Amino acid sequence: MILLGLNIDHCATVRQARYRASGAAAGGVVEPDPVALALEAERAGADGITVHLREDRRHVQDRDIWRLRECIATRLNLEMACTPEMTKLALELKPDSVCLVPESREEITTEGGLDVVRHHERVKSCVEAMNAAGIKTSLFIDPDEPQIELAAQLGAPWIELHTGAYANAYYGTGRAAEFQRLRIGCALGHDRGLVVNAGHGINYVNIAEVRALPHLHELNIGHSIISRALFTGIGEAVREMKARMNA
Ligand code: PXP
Repeated sequence: MILLGLNIDHCATVRQARYRASGAAAGGVVEPDPVALALEAERAGADGITVHLREDRRHVQDRDIWRLRECIATRLNLEMACTPEMTKLALELKPDSVCLVPESREEITTEGGLDVVRHHERVKSCVEAMNAAGIKTSLFIDPDEPQIELAAQLGAPWIELHTGAYANAYYGTGRAAEFQRLRIGCALGHDRGLVVNAGHGINYVNIAEVRALPHLHELNIGHSIISRALFTGIGEAVREMKARMNA
């Protein structure tokens, strides 16, 4: 069975769109609350909750991650840039796992995988710190051989293959090639002893194909589920995605 990690960043995006300036001063009317959403999603079958604490705190806030750490019953996966500041914070928070992602201020969301070949030393020291603290590290990388081979050497138990290029190509001519790239990446990661996750741009349509990728452990999905929840509520949106993931 493929597990679902629900990324709740976009719940915080909606909250910040209205309450960025007022924050706690607005009291009980500050909504939507990502923690309440996470708890409801867990009740509907989400296997883990993912949040990305960005350097510019554009959506998820520090207070959110501490509240999540205290409240959720499944697993907390913290997406973060590979920086000393974030490493220190993760070691204090002790999430169940961290996912190292690239981060640049211009991005609306994460646009490409972390280049572990280029940032080898930085990634290695972060992975070592997490391993020593018993926190699992996942590396969010493009499904390319050099990235996967190096990821396997860096001592991180998990990889998350970036499905964004495939999702973007879904209605174009590159779809089959991108799918094949992911298929080869999954097989290689598994062969190297890595737990293989995937995420970015997965929705209720392309999941029919994504779920056929070999050796998938968990999918991290955010935008499509949060969007559907506007119409159905988060419980139904989670149940529907889980049903399609494991049909
Ligand atoms: N995985 C990672 C590492 C991400 O950065 C994101 C986007 O925040 C996702 C998964 C989820 O992508 P989407 O919101 O497109 O489902």
